[in-house]
Amino acid sequence: MLAVAICCENEVTQNDPKALIGEAAIDARVLELAGQISKDYENCDELVLVGVLKGAFIFLADLSRRLTIPRVIEFIAVSSYGSGSRSSGAVRLVMDVRGNIEGKHVLIVEDIVDTGHTLQYLIGMLESHGPASVKTCALVRKAERAEVEVNVDYLGFDIPDEWVVGYGLDYAEKNRTLPYIGIVTPSD
Ligand code: PRP
Repeated sequence: MLAVAICCENEVTQNDPKALIGEAAIDARVLELAGQISKDYENCDELVLVGVLKGAFIFLADLSRRLTIPRVIEFIAVSSYGSGSRSSGAVRLVMDVRGNIEGKHVLIVEDIVDTGHTLQYLIGMLESHGPASVKTCALVRKAERAEVEVNVDYLGFDIPDEWVVGYGLDYAEKNRTLPYIGIVTPSD
């Protein structure tokens, strides 16, 4: 028989980031958001979920599987000019959606809204494709850091201005797959 060592994803070691939002709280909120979205779009033929790479991949996966309405998945990738942990506010499109979203109802799915520049840019960019509607969903938002006013139609949690990792969020590509959202101290 093959012996397999299974690492429990719930295990938290001494070196793991301090928890800000635990797995159970995330699961419960994602379920609530999915319920609200399913209700709001119940009369739509199909909802196009646009996940913003990379950070939204886990949130999008969980949210999309809890929806009870017809939906399709698209991804988009952007890059912020800037260095270290602070963005300059200028956003560049790296990868557009693959499908045609003209006349479709679109929901942008973000992991985090920080300054708001990325979401503001994405709303404008996707609206230029002629969709029926564009709404926004984000798991977390740092209200204190907002530099532009951008509406988040479906929000998981407002959080303090701390560097957060886990559930898709990273610091220097680390800790994206941490099952909860934790706090780290950036080195720059
Ligand atoms: C994060 C996040 C948002 C953006 C929000 O992406 O996923 O897209 O920052 O910041 P803003 O509100 O200040 O514009 P990041 O640049 O860290 O890339 P990643 O998702 O690939 O980690």
